[in-house]
Amino acid sequence: MEQYAIRGGNPLVGEVEIGGAKNAALAILAAAVMTDEPVIIENVPDLRDTMAMLQAMESIGVVVEKLDRHTVKIIGGSLKNVVIEDDSIKKIRGSYYFLGALLGKCRRAEVALPGGCNIGLRPIDQHIKGFRALGADVRIEHGLIITEAQQLKGSHIYLDVVSVGATINVLMAAAMAEGQTIIENAAKEPHVVDVANFLNSMGANIKGAGTDVIRVKGVSKLHGTEYAIIPDQIEAGTFMFAAAVTKGDVTVKNVIPKHLESISAKLMEIGCEVEESDDAVRVVAAKPLTHTHVKTLPYPGFPTDMQPQITVALGLSKGTSIVTESIFENRFKYVDELTRMGANIKVEGNTAIIDGVNKYTGASISAPDLRAGAALVTAALAAEGVSIIDDIKFIERGYEDFPQKLQSLGALIEKVGSEREIQKFRLKTG
Ligand code: EPZ
Repeated sequence: MEQYAIRGGNPLVGEVEIGGAKNAALAILAAAVMTDEPVIIENVPDLRDTMAMLQAMESIGVVVEKLDRHTVKIIGGSLKNVVIEDDSIKKIRGSYYFLGALLGKCRRAEVALPGGCNIGLRPIDQHIKGFRALGADVRIEHGLIITEAQQLKGSHIYLDVVSVGATINVLMAAAMAEGQTIIENAAKEPHVVDVANFLNSMGANIKGAGTDVIRVKGVSKLHGTEYAIIPDQIEAGTFMFAAAVTKGDVTVKNVIPKHLESISAKLMEIGCEVEESDDAVRVVAAKPLTHTHVKTLPYPGFPTDMQPQITVALGLSKGTSIVTESIFENRFKYVDELTRMGANIKVEGNTAIIDGVNKYTGASISAPDLRAGAALVTAALAAEGVSIIDDIKFIERGYEDFPQKLQSLGALIEKVGSEREIQKFRLKTG
């Protein structure tokens, strides 16, 4: 089993290039099948989850050609069926985007029930509500969600919760429905806007993405396009917090600073310096960190996908901090692991009360999910001694070349596959 071996204590210093946004890529890849013409997508992160999406597309006859590591050409015209039950797709959340995309294009989709990180109940009732409002029938049979419509008709849809997935899914189906759809209480995340921009570049007519109300005028056909995915807000934020916890000086490059504002604001509150330029943000942690409070919220609030990373930093900050998780109810599972490294954190329901400690110490720990796993890596980078992190498959779902990027900033981290390799790592870095 592969693990990360990490010797903490080195401040991270230097520059790191951020890749394309995973959660935008998952939706955009699915949306690319909506036209018969070739679509070229750039800045696709090379991750387990994006590879699973491409594999699933091939399984229904779509032609997928990798032009280079981050550029892919997709030809949806060769699509042969609408049943997606590829084994790898069952593990990823983004598989549900094939529902909206295929319902829009083919008026029918059958997709294995979505998997993804175990961070609490993850219902899809709002996706279903949206499809039904457009006139589709939706049912679950034999582990598949089946949705079909004789006619897909624009509608006025009020989402009961702000949901990234439901907003994007309804947007995709509505893009090829007849007439106008209005989505109220829409999610405003940068990747929602990215998907809308992508669809518009294929000839869709979507207005208002990035606000609470999205208006879609359905079109009967979409055409080919070339499109570059936005940078990953959460990958960038993770490196920014890694700089903070290791008392480092890191510049994240190829980012959109506006998307990082809530993250930058919290870093400044806890004592870091944050400098923004056109497409880069520099984080310098020269002073001891201090406490703060934070509540996760839909964009432009502080992202739930950054909650474990800020908790790791607050665990090392002077004073008592409170972190409230308002999006997912089971996103503090990693706290037990952090406690093994010396953190002093009490979880009560959706709140973590954190008494800052002076240092973490290396330990053998497991990554419970993607973002928590990445956060534990940052804790290990700050800790005294060696940590061994298990279940790194979760981390690899969302961070391309994570160990290599950290090494380029001076981190002592290696992927290891045996006790012997761990011993070698200890000797080499000791
Ligand atoms: C997306 O998940 C991301 N995943 C998640 O990223 C991210 O944490 C989340 O958005 C919030 O930003 C992908 O894009 C593949 P939601 P999603 O629908 O779409 C409730 C990561 O680490 N809800 O915005 O599943 C839901 O339970 C992952 O990259 C309903 O009640 O999230 C949650 O409380 C983890 N009914 C809230 O809404 C629904 O039909 C927000 O969920 C849908 C959602």
